[in-house]
Amino acid sequence: MEKVEKIRIYRNKSQPLKGKVKISGAKNAVLPAIAASLLTKEKIKLTNIPLVKDVFTILTLMKELGADYGLKRNSLSIQTKNITSDEASYELVSAMRASILVLGPLLARSGKAAVALPGGCAIGSRPIDLHIHALEKLGATISLEHGYIKAEAEELRGTEIEFEKKTVGGTENSLMAASLAQGETVLKNCALEPEVSNLCQLLVKMGAKIDGIGRETIRVRGVEELGGATHEIIPDRIEAGTFLVAGALSNGDIQLTNVNPQHLETVIERLRYSGAKIEVKNKSLRVVGSPKIKSQDITTSPYPGFPTDMQAQFIVLMTQASGTSIITETIFDRRFSHVNELLRLGANIEVRGDKAIVRGKTPLSGAEIIATDLRASASLILAGLIASGETIINEVEHLDRGYEKIEEKLSSLGACIERIKE
Ligand code: EPZ
Repeated sequence: MEKVEKIRIYRNKSQPLKGKVKISGAKNAVLPAIAASLLTKEKIKLTNIPLVKDVFTILTLMKELGADYGLKRNSLSIQTKNITSDEASYELVSAMRASILVLGPLLARSGKAAVALPGGCAIGSRPIDLHIHALEKLGATISLEHGYIKAEAEELRGTEIEFEKKTVGGTENSLMAASLAQGETVLKNCALEPEVSNLCQLLVKMGAKIDGIGRETIRVRGVEELGGATHEIIPDRIEAGTFLVAGALSNGDIQLTNVNPQHLETVIERLRYSGAKIEVKNKSLRVVGSPKIKSQDITTSPYPGFPTDMQAQFIVLMTQASGTSIITETIFDRRFSHVNELLRLGANIEVRGDKAIVRGKTPLSGAEIIATDLRASASLILAGLIASGETIINEVEHLDRGYEKIEEKLSSLGACIERIKE
């Protein structure tokens, strides 16, 4: 029987995490940036790349589409001289929903695309109707055949698109398609996430004409063609937030380098409210935990609100707060799969619809648990760091999708954590 990888965390006494950790580049910025390289025949160089599973997945997809690439440590050089296929297979899309991000660029570059309809995943149904509506408004003919989104467009024409709700991927797909459309496109109610702005900055370096970067209304004047560029991927604000919670949770003292504190304002504000001390410097943050953690209510919302990708991690912190905290998840319809696993460690959490009612402070004790999605797996690691005894986390492939060397980073801060094969 093939051995499976697990993560084992052991804690026999209180072990505050102390030391310095370098945050990696943002997974959710590098994926659209790699997709954007389809928009030109020229070479795109990306630095500060996180070496995470999703990057290797999208590079596999890019190769299938005709791209050549070279990866040297955390720098990527990628070029698609010719599109040799316009199909993103079900196998790759089901491995990573973000594969849908090649739809817009493929359509703009070669006039047609076939992308497998992404299935649901552990955090809800995750439709792509807003992507399709936007691309149809740009002139694409889109149909659903045998589980594939088939899109064709002789020519994309600029238009006005208003998203009925904020969508990071929908905004990104539309920006990429509009960059090569005829005429001007006005995108309204755009997602404001820093990863969207980082994509816009890359597109502008490639020659796109974009006004309103970082705002809800973005104007894109289409150009004939786009060229090569070199671009740095922004630091991963969710990885940084995860380590800030680790410091607050373990009454530790951690310095984070290679971060952009402006991307974490709401998370910093909530952590300070919980009692943690956070020092902000230009590209670094320092978190000093407090033995007393205050409970608080949190509602996730689109950027700059409290990020849904930090909800699971924050729930773990609130299990150690004295009092009741109500965590409301407004972005995804089923993003509490980590709760059942936390209950097995001794947490007191009740899920009612879009709310998780956390009653603390509850001591946690280690057990064997299962990760279900990327950020849930991070929350289980955080729980294991403070649970007494041994915690074994199964299905760590979810974790590897978005965190680069997390157990090495945590070990360097004093955690007893290792990857085992059983
Ligand atoms: C991006 O997903 C991120 N992924 C997610 O991070 C993040 O949680 C999410 O944005 C929200 O911030 C990447 O950037 C690769 P959305 P995305 O379109 O683009 C609904 C992680 O852990 N919706 O902003 O898929 C959707 O169901 C991942 O790194 C539609 O209804 O998210 C959700 O309820 C998890 N129709 C809401 O909008 C659509 O066409 C926000 O989704 C598209 C989305």
